[in-house]
Amino acid sequence: MNGSSSKPGESVAAAIRAALLTAEPKAKVFAARDVARRWRMGELAWRFDAAMPERPAWPARPELLAPGQMPKRGKAGSERGRIALWHALAHIEFVAIDLALDMAGRFGAEMARDFVDDFLSVAADEAMHFALLDRKLASLGSYYGALPAHGGLWEAAHETRHDVRARLAVVPMVLEARGLDVTPATRDRVRAQGDEHGARILQRILEDEIRHVRFGTQHFVERCEAAGDAAEKSWKMLVKKHFRGALKPPFNDSARSAAGLSREFYAALASRTEAPLPNNH
Ligand SMILES: [Fe+2]
Ligand SMILES: [Fe+2]
Repeated sequence: MNGSSSKPGESVAAAIRAALLTAEPKAKVFAARDVARRWRMGELAWRFDAAMPERPAWPARPELLAPGQMPKRGKAGSERGRIALWHALAHIEFVAIDLALDMAGRFGAEMARDFVDDFLSVAADEAMHFALLDRKLASLGSYYGALPAHGGLWEAAHETRHDVRARLAVVPMVLEARGLDVTPATRDRVRAQGDEHGARILQRILEDEIRHVRFGTQHFVERCEAAGDAAEKSWKMLVKKHFRGALKPPFNDSARSAAGLSREFYAALASRTEAPLPNNH
């Protein structure tokens, strides 16, 4: 783990690739934050001379399972249920580190510098989120890797690896936006169980995720406008083509609108499934 000794003239792509290919969780956290810091300090060159891996390196544990094979979480609020919840959230954040790194490294060359600024800052946030959740697991006597985890989280990235607009449409604007919808209820449930510390972690994650969705939406809209395309229409087309799940209401409309994601974007797609329920957060 010697990522802090930056080699002169190292390209931003080579540094990102090295972080993606770091498997051990604590080392990946360090590598992601280190790339973001070196980029911010101007220590990495604007060159995209290294290809991003098809799939990042991950540790041998957690065992990755198809969603249907995941064991039951245990009763909510039981010790087992709590560990399962924090473990599932830690896994989402762990994969999110790689999603942000891959976004910057794979598509940076065709985008402006602020795209790389934004998504490397997202990678640093995700690394911090993972570290907070890993520490939370430790406080419960567990650790990341102790349980199996959802094996499908990289699929959306793989599916959209040839098209920055498709990647932005699906990863920040569908998957991360989904986090805005579900996190307030999880935070409130955790708080109701007396875990104020856990509720504060989730509140911090929620606030950062609003920014991540906003970055995704901004770059998507800019890219559509530059091509003379209507952003909402393009988004709907790309989501239909590349995202197999449904957009499930209820939506957290206030967090989504703070992220620049107006109802015009998702209302039409959501109506394919069911009428939105009133927002009760
Ligand atoms: Fe996150
Ligand atoms: Fe995020």
